[in-house]
Amino acid sequence: MKVAYTPIDIEFDSSTVDKVQLLSFIKNNYVKDLEYTSKLAPIVVRHKVNDWRSKADIFGKDVGYKLSDNYKLYYAPGIEETFPTIVKLLDQLPYKQLIGACFNLHQNPLYPHQDENDTNMPQTPERYNVLLTEHFGQDSFFVAKTRTSEKVYPTILKEAPVYSFDNRNFYHGADPVLDNRVILVCSGILDDERHKELIRRSSEKYKNYVIKF
Ligand SMILES: [Fe+2]
Repeated sequence: MKVAYTPIDIEFDSSTVDKVQLLSFIKNNYVKDLEYTSKLAPIVVRHKVNDWRSKADIFGKDVGYKLSDNYKLYYAPGIEETFPTIVKLLDQLPYKQLIGACFNLHQNPLYPHQDENDTNMPQTPERYNVLLTEHFGQDSFFVAKTRTSEKVYPTILKEAPVYSFDNRNFYHGADPVLDNRVILVCSGILDDERHKELIRRSSEKYKNYVIKF
């Protein structure tokens, strides 16, 4: 059995995120021309950006799952001032380098799928997300063993809104759409030792909420 979902033992309080500011940031800054089921508003990347709303500028310029020689993070205007607790949280995730992070406002059902994954093949679960709005105990985000198997809706905890899931071996999606549900989606090159230890510690601490297939 493998861990498909676990809450993560990193302290974060979603109530520190101002919801009016959050929705207004997304409304004004989501990337245009993305054919996706969510509005994505990037908050940080590791390359210089001219236009934060340009798909090519945000998604077309990174080197992928490789360490960048000139690693430097570029935050979108206003993020560090308005959302300092999120910046602090991103610092604590077990990455050698963060590739980027986006606010994700869910708009349409997202059917079971797998993501593009880290080509360094770190231990799974490898994807870190954070629930930023009050949709705890939600029935939207799900994991499933195969594309067609039963959807399992994890309990996202108010005291542990950071979670990790396996997007390589299993499937995930989000359905139904809840009112103004926003998550922070993170990607980066994992430090496999720190990552492994965090998953071990977290899945032990929150064992009653871990989903395994
Ligand atoms: Fe996905």
